[in-house]
Amino acid sequence: MSIIKGFHHLTAGVSGAQEDVDFYVKVLGQSLVKKTVLLDGEDPIYHLYYGNANGDPGTLVTSFPFGQKGVKARPGSGQVRVINYSVPRDSLEFWRDRFGAKGVSYASEMTERFGERRQRFFHPCGIEFDLVETDHDPRPACTAADIPEAVAIRGVHSVTLSLRDVDESILFMTEALDFRNVGASGPYHRFETGTGGPGMVVELLHEPERRQGSSIYGEGTVHHVAFAVDNVAQQMILKERFMAMGYIDTSESVNRNYFRSMYFKMPGGVIFEATTTDIGFAIDEAPGHFGEEFQLPPWLQSRKDELLGRLEPIAV
Ligand SMILES: [Fe+2]
Repeated sequence: MSIIKGFHHLTAGVSGAQEDVDFYVKVLGQSLVKKTVLLDGEDPIYHLYYGNANGDPGTLVTSFPFGQKGVKARPGSGQVRVINYSVPRDSLEFWRDRFGAKGVSYASEMTERFGERRQRFFHPCGIEFDLVETDHDPRPACTAADIPEAVAIRGVHSVTLSLRDVDESILFMTEALDFRNVGASGPYHRFETGTGGPGMVVELLHEPERRQGSSIYGEGTVHHVAFAVDNVAQQMILKERFMAMGYIDTSESVNRNYFRSMYFKMPGGVIFEATTTDIGFAIDEAPGHFGEEFQLPPWLQSRKDELLGRLEPIAV
């Protein structure tokens, strides 16, 4: 069995915190799973986690709202270009109507690739998303009063990485990360891990003419994609493997309170993370109450009022 179990979370820099909440919760029916802060740097920036109600790895997309600080990242190659969510077959018409009614911009044409129908739509800060239709996602539906189970999002389906060159990245996906190369469609190369299917799919999109994007924390780009591993011991197995292959710019295991994170750049420049699933969101809020209160790790709790006072208020 491969060390990587599928996705843990995807993290993007967005603009305003409230418009981000409105997009994920009110439009897409995601639960706000955790409301905390970015743990790097001195200025408080929210870290907002969205996913299914359980906060299951593989359903999580997280946001750093950088609008308040005014830092913009540059979209380009070497980044996650598209976040893909899975929805049941025959649900895209519901979502097109919903995007129209909610003022979300979306592409006029649906597309299809690898036998799956897709609908492109856009976060308010410009980040690209697809809804991908599949009958093979058994995860619980992210329903809402006006989002029936038959059309509701099940979680992250896949990510689409924009790469100027793909040769070394194809080798990396298979030799370093144990993904299977399951085929190509035009400029798209598709990889799967574990049992395959939604939550375990990575696509490389070969875009040789696309300018390199930035890697900073800032508004308007997906910063990194995190894959689930069991624990720190598995992170260290991966680190040793990367080092042996020459990928020596692999981070230590960093304490992110709800998990431990090890960061590395894949050959095409996209920031990857191996994230442990052995801690979780129940350390400071009981299941069923995730995301209700502003939470800080133990080392910042004495600064709660000060940090919260410097952040824009948000309502769910
Ligand atoms: Fe992360």
